[in-house]
Amino acid sequence: MFDKKNFKIPLDQFINNALYHKKKGYYVKNVPFGKDGDFITAPNISRIFSEMIFLWIISYWEKFYKNKEINIVELGAGNGEMMSQIIISSKKFNNFYDKCNFFIYEKSKKMIEIQKQKLKKYNVKWFQDFGKLENPTIFFGNEFLDALPVKQYLNKNNKWYERYVQKKGGNYSFTEIECDIKKIEKKLDLKFSKKQNFLEISLNEFKLIKELNNIISKKGGCILFIDYAYLNHKMIDTLQAVKKHKKVNLLNDVGNADISHVINIPFLKKIAIKNDLMLDFVTQRDFLLNLGILQRAEILAANKKFLEKANIYYRINRLIDKKQMGELFKVIFFYKKKNKFDKGFK
Ligand SMILES: C[S@@+](CC[C@H](N)C(=O)[O-])C[C@H]1O[C@@H](n2cnc3c(N)ncnc32)[C@H](O)[C@@H]1O
Repeated sequence: MFDKKNFKIPLDQFINNALYHKKKGYYVKNVPFGKDGDFITAPNISRIFSEMIFLWIISYWEKFYKNKEINIVELGAGNGEMMSQIIISSKKFNNFYDKCNFFIYEKSKKMIEIQKQKLKKYNVKWFQDFGKLENPTIFFGNEFLDALPVKQYLNKNNKWYERYVQKKGGNYSFTEIECDIKKIEKKLDLKFSKKQNFLEISLNEFKLIKELNNIISKKGGCILFIDYAYLNHKMIDTLQAVKKHKKVNLLNDVGNADISHVINIPFLKKIAIKNDLMLDFVTQRDFLLNLGILQRAEILAANKKFLEKANIYYRINRLIDKKQMGELFKVIFFYKKKNKFDKGFK
């Protein structure tokens, strides 16, 4: 895509190339996380975030799989920070740690290198094929779903069009091609276009949940995502490109900015129902407060100097404040009906 002067491809293909092109993709060239990168994620704001996820994971294991072997699988592990904190916390509970197999499912070779370096002291395996997982499996991913490519469809005068990206003379622009939305719905066996005049859907997300569901249906387990998400049935265009902590034009500087979208919960619910899965969600704020993030902060802050204490609370505030990440981010839990679990959710 980068070397060609002229082409026209569907939006999701464009995003996939912009992020993962072998040589020029964003996640192939860049380490995006942190103050000097392009964006910061919750595990890189405070280790307490990962500790809370750990607490949830071990509680789930205790309730349903105590004393049984379990796979702890992170989807899209970025710089490996979250997995490293989860393993550090797990090691404090021998009876749990001895039963854990830690895995990472990651697409970017560059991220895998960074993860391997960071986690070299620990026994973590990287894998590509979900079918090979034995044992009950807890899948989790922070800002993973938002990184999956999306397709967009627009309705004009009762006709549906798919959004494409074209390159002409080296410049990128959007264009549309008429499509048969009913045929697409039929192929996915999912109806999503009713009462919409705009659609933003990820076929990768659809495929992934199906694959994860296959595992937890056969072996047991569940799926936990933390991501920015909205609740309106009516879909909107949420696609964004971010560089140096600022939104930038998606079609400028392709390959040098992260691209993500905001998850639509009603669409995820449809995918859940189709897979015979239950879906619960709660704001990140409520989830972390319910799990006791403030109590944990108090313990960590005790005996610390004023500035260190302030730093701990400043970071926690970023995670739970309603105007920062607290409300925009949701914790989304997919589970089988018999394994309902509401820790963190109420
Ligand atoms: C926005 S980053 C989040 C990283 C990390 N979870 C965090 O919170 O810091 C998205 C991560 O998912 C990975 N990723 C994106 N699409 C993927 C896919 N289809 N399969 C596996 N990993 C993927 C990216 O390479 C990156 O590591």
